[in-house]
Amino acid sequence: MKTGSIKHARQGGPGRRALANWAASGLLLCAAIPAQVQAEDAQAALSPSGEYSVYETEAAQTPPMGWNPWNAFRTDVDEQKIRGSAEALVNNGLAQLGYRYVNIDDGWALQRRDDGSLKIHDTMFPSAVVDGHPNGSFVPFTDFIHSLGLKAGLYTDIGHNTCAQRWDATSPNLPVGSIAERQVGSMDHAEQDMKTIFGTWGFDYVKIDACGVADYAPDVEPVQSGRFNVFPPYIVRGDIPNSDPDAVEALYADLGTAIKEWGGDDAVLSICAWGEALSPRWGNKRGNLWRTSPDIEFHWESMLRNIDSAVDRTLYAGPGHWNDPDMLAIGHGDFDENHLTEARAHMSMWAIMASPLLIGYDLRDAPQPLLDILGNREVIAIDQDAAGNQGVPYRDGEAMVVVRTLAGDGARAVVFFNRGDEPVSATVDWTQLGFAPGSEASVRDVWTHENLAAAKGAISVDLGAHEARLFRLKGTPADADAVWLDEMPGRINVAVDGIGNHSLPEGWVPARVAVAPDGSAFVSQGTSFAKGIGLFANSRVEIRTDGEFAKFDASPLVLNGSGSVRFLVYADRKLVGETTVKAGKSGKISADISSAQVFELVAIASSVGGERPPMIAWADAKLQR
Ligand code: GLA
Repeated sequence: MKTGSIKHARQGGPGRRALANWAASGLLLCAAIPAQVQAEDAQAALSPSGEYSVYETEAAQTPPMGWNPWNAFRTDVDEQKIRGSAEALVNNGLAQLGYRYVNIDDGWALQRRDDGSLKIHDTMFPSAVVDGHPNGSFVPFTDFIHSLGLKAGLYTDIGHNTCAQRWDATSPNLPVGSIAERQVGSMDHAEQDMKTIFGTWGFDYVKIDACGVADYAPDVEPVQSGRFNVFPPYIVRGDIPNSDPDAVEALYADLGTAIKEWGGDDAVLSICAWGEALSPRWGNKRGNLWRTSPDIEFHWESMLRNIDSAVDRTLYAGPGHWNDPDMLAIGHGDFDENHLTEARAHMSMWAIMASPLLIGYDLRDAPQPLLDILGNREVIAIDQDAAGNQGVPYRDGEAMVVVRTLAGDGARAVVFFNRGDEPVSATVDWTQLGFAPGSEASVRDVWTHENLAAAKGAISVDLGAHEARLFRLKGTPADADAVWLDEMPGRINVAVDGIGNHSLPEGWVPARVAVAPDGSAFVSQGTSFAKGIGLFANSRVEIRTDGEFAKFDASPLVLNGSGSVRFLVYADRKLVGETTVKAGKSGKISADISSAQVFELVAIASSVGGERPPMIAWADAKLQR
């Protein structure tokens, strides 16, 4: 059987008792359910669970930082190059700044043996030749990496075969032997491989690719020619109806369980399904980071595409779980030492998006200006900020402003970014920053380490082609006793997004800060709301409050559709607020959430109709201390 059971693997799902309570309260009867979803499943998903249902480990509390050989060497890689870059990380000071995972990518596996064990490519990894270990051992390698004070990562695939086997057919580092022997991916070997990788070899991190379930369809040449077994794909790129997102999710879920068992709480799981199979929607339930896009290529347009794949997904990131727009291309092509403006823009955007920072450059011979960009302490501090809030984007033509709430009262980072080739001016205002009207904020340019003149009301910046400026601000919060949801996305989790396995039009995101899923502003009967979270009805959002807040206030909006939507607020599973709002209208809701650890926002549409549930907003949603 290829699919695991998603239902059993789901964390934080309601127990029988929760369902019984829900039914007893009468809510079960009046709640409407999307036609495509089994009634019971929809109800279960919308029931408050009182838990924070993400992939919960101690690992990756800030976005992982480190080095990976893929962008530097692709398949032309060996142990010497990896060890050399690990030593360089230590010698050039980057390790001390937080770059600590040294990861091996595709190419290390030579064979799957009859007993299911994996044999290492020892021409690639000479240190793996160890007496008494016919398959070789990575212990000498991980010992070396650990002796440098660093952590070690490895690579595998959820399918039977890896990406290089399909896409780098002339690589010197491909598996050899029969079809079965060349099946080095972890399908049907989740437990055994994770035991070996974490338990025996001592790795700390695994990146798990997905070509094995995407690229071995019956009609492709390598399969037709008999070199690989067919695998009817679970992922058809860009095509959800012909993909099987549940099956892909189930494979990662099984691997995650095995990783926790053998790698413990510090082990990192990096999901590499390139944003396919709805992985950006469930990645935070299944791993510590998940790719949101195809591989970065070393040109500007590719970087923009990868930014756009992650930048609106603010509500999916937080401590322990991060959107991954791919490894850094700094040092290559449009981001090389002759393009430092572009390299800085790339780094600025990754930092404001709380993205993993995995260097993909040969550090044994890196020009100082590139090292200065990768090693800018203040930029790294923004990426690694403890609050774990991904920035919130605002767009104005080619100008993009992204505001990130940092730990500490009134602390913000803001990127002013010119996507285009012509000069532009970009502006952020005090509402977007959540600062008190008329108050002053200090401004620091983190690239130049300079304090600039204090600002009031708004900040405008002129930007040259492809330029980004990154500032750290300290201002006066608009309300000393309250926090808007916009300012705490790292503590918000979209538990149920209301649209099941349905795909959305290009550019839509199921749950967003300050705008609706389609990017439109929150407007109701002529009134605009600058703040809040926008999503679909039939959704449930969990917010970690850790007993810090007393009261919740919001203006619930129903932005389209017909009928009405019930808005419900739960504090640690207890219903504490409720209101019903008609399509096109707004309402008010206020709830006592004193001492709640997790509170939940549930929205249920009264009727089914149209392609999707109506878009809603918890506008101006704010927590009072
Ligand atoms: C895929 C991944 C890359 C890299 C290669 C290795 O393309 O997205 O990051 O791991 O496979 O073959």
